[in-house]
Amino acid sequence: MTAESLTTNQMPAKVKIVEVGPRDGLQNEKTPISAQDKITLINQLSEAGVSYIESGSFVSPKWVPQMATSADVFNGITRAKNVTYAALTPNMRGFEGAIAVNANEVAIFGAASESFSQKNINCSIEESLARFEPIMTAAKNANIRVRGYVSCVVGCPYDGLIDPEQVATVAEKLFNMGCYEISLGDTIGVGTAASVQKMLQAVSARIPTDNLAVHFHDTYGQALTNIYTALQSGITVVDSAIAGLGGCPYAKGASGNVATEDVVYLLNGLGINTGINFDKLLKAGWFISDILGKAPISKVSNAYRAQR
Ligand code: HMG
Ligand code: MG
Repeated sequence: MTAESLTTNQMPAKVKIVEVGPRDGLQNEKTPISAQDKITLINQLSEAGVSYIESGSFVSPKWVPQMATSADVFNGITRAKNVTYAALTPNMRGFEGAIAVNANEVAIFGAASESFSQKNINCSIEESLARFEPIMTAAKNANIRVRGYVSCVVGCPYDGLIDPEQVATVAEKLFNMGCYEISLGDTIGVGTAASVQKMLQAVSARIPTDNLAVHFHDTYGQALTNIYTALQSGITVVDSAIAGLGGCPYAKGASGNVATEDVVYLLNGLGINTGINFDKLLKAGWFISDILGKAPISKVSNAYRAQR
């Protein structure tokens, strides 16, 4: 799809959900969660029909302690056919860790904001792209697909509002390096329908919408509206986290990703196919929420639970 077709208001027939709860969700939880509980969650998600699960990250355990068990998690899950189990990898060491446990795909993560890049991965945007080069080469040799994230696509906790052209520039660099899909992250959830549409217009002028995904945190309660806007703009891949878990340790106040339950409820209502069994999805959300000792951050999930 091209930039011209951005405002057709046509809805896609199918949407792929990229479930990031076990990584983006759990990375920010202070309560230690055992590898076994993470494994159970991931298995429940695949049994619910989720076809892409970002299952952990291979980052410094000093930076993100909750992800220190990612190798055990990858080794313990029951691999379902047709499910992609992906890992977030910031550098070659992370890539090698992910490959050693048979991650099906990896994701690299850059930012549209200089300050966030420094706080999150301790280097400038340009340095981060240089660090990703050997990952791209190694991944190509190993026949592993690489997804690319751009963080802070609307606003940054340190630098304020971000120019859509800056987002497009970083996204394009990741795409030209060989990432098959660029996930556009509103890390602190400040985007609105208007600012998200502007950002998507700038990015899709350079990258086909078929190669874009959206990744909304719901800090300001705008995520579902922003997803609806993205669908109208031709995007068909949506990142979300079961039970609305998470946040980013390097974005103060950032709340969780939009809840997968809320997204699937919206898509079901629109008649858009996700391949997900809603009942099983709800149960996966209740499982992890009970482990964490808190209610899901999903109105849909809580409404259904109240009825049982
Ligand atoms: P650094 O300090 O600049 O790098 O960190 P370093 O190479 O000097 O390494 C520091 C220490 O980490 C060393 O250990 C290394 O061995 C170790 P020490 O000598 O101090 O004992 N180390 C590693 N350990 C395990 N696995 C590795 C690894 N690499 C180095 N791969 C580094 C640079 C990138 C490592 C660090 O900044 C880091 O790990 N950052 C992770 C940040 C992170 O995970 N953030 C959350 C994910 S991003 C996100 O949530 C946003 C997203 O969801 C999209 C959105 O919402 O916008 C994707
Ligand atoms: Mg995120």
